[in-house]
Amino acid sequence: MKVFVTKRLPQEGLEILTASGVCEVSMCDSDDTLTKAELLKRVDGVDGILCVPYDIIDSAVLDAAGKKTKMDFLPRTTALGGLRDKSPNLKMISCFSVGFDHLDLVEIKKRGIRVGHTPDILTDATAELTIALLLATSRRIPEGVEMVKKGEHGGSLWMCGYGLTGSTVGIIGLGRIGFAIAQRLMPFGVKRLLYSGRTVKAQAAEVNGEFVPLDTLASDSDFVIVTCPLTPETQGMCDKAFFSKMKNTAVFINSSRGAVVNQEDLYEVLSSGKIAAAGLDVTSPEPLPTNHPLLTLTNCVVLPHIGSATFSTRGAMAVLAARNLLAGLQGTHMPSELSF
Ligand code: NDP
Ligand code: DGY
Repeated sequence: MKVFVTKRLPQEGLEILTASGVCEVSMCDSDDTLTKAELLKRVDGVDGILCVPYDIIDSAVLDAAGKKTKMDFLPRTTALGGLRDKSPNLKMISCFSVGFDHLDLVEIKKRGIRVGHTPDILTDATAELTIALLLATSRRIPEGVEMVKKGEHGGSLWMCGYGLTGSTVGIIGLGRIGFAIAQRLMPFGVKRLLYSGRTVKAQAAEVNGEFVPLDTLASDSDFVIVTCPLTPETQGMCDKAFFSKMKNTAVFINSSRGAVVNQEDLYEVLSSGKIAAAGLDVTSPEPLPTNHPLLTLTNCVVLPHIGSATFSTRGAMAVLAARNLLAGLQGTHMPSELSF
């Protein structure tokens, strides 16, 4: 069987694939994201794809991966017509990520392809990074570093920010990562922890979490943290209407996906002082063009999507993604299969 890995994979994952004797591995020998044209070319006739969140796996990619057979040309009206919708080769898509918003799951399901992803093992690293981003943003750390380099120093309110002690924190999406963030915030002396989402979480009691409507979360929180997935429902959810409900001393943090935020609206509320500051580990697009207006603001800290970027976490993700891929190819139990 043939597999295509769309980006250089940490060695420990690659070794599992190459030593398996199950598949022939072709890997993009670059750290750059593939263009769509390259992706379409490289997946031709493969049985499995190991991809990153930047690879949009849509029907064009699935078609390109599916080797044409006579069956593909059967009219839909024949008894076997349904088989036209199958990718005869492609059996498995393994995500080097927990997020799967880059996959067209409707098309994938129609073609009977299995999907694996990497939940849990990246939760701690992403929660740590989100706390780091929150503190860097609220205490103006990147700005402070620049001040030192310029030799600047000021008065008693110079470079002041906002502290966590006694504050109200609102988490949108108290899932694996949201909960891990809440746990890490407790020792900081947060007074109230609010969360919103589709369902009440039993685990929230462990962090004294209060389930509230999104509007209440926006209006009552000193810190808003977004950790929900990107879905049709959450796309553009943090927009002008949402930001206008926030306190003008509030700090907004996003470590989920860039498209959950309307960035034009975010620029407006940050530049007009409607909210105090924002920290973004994720943007739309990634990387953000270097002339993007958000990058001109001192009250906006933007990181290059490094939530899970510790050596051990990325290694563990590679191992899990490789094991998922092999299981999908062999039709056996997958360590972390996505049900959809
Ligand atoms: P989980 O599925 O465990 O948690 C997601 C949570 O979001 C669930 O509690 C879910 O609640 C909630 N949710 C779903 N829909 C909505 C909605 N409409 N409004 C509010 N909340 C909602 O996922 P993880 O915690 O493991 O990961 C979350 C996301 O973080 C990933 O999808 C990915 O996009 C992003 N991520 C980013 C990383 C980075 O590097 N910055 C690293 C890893 C992940 P319910 O169960 O009620 O639906
Ligand atoms: C994920 O896992 O969804 C991250 O965004 C990539 O590390």
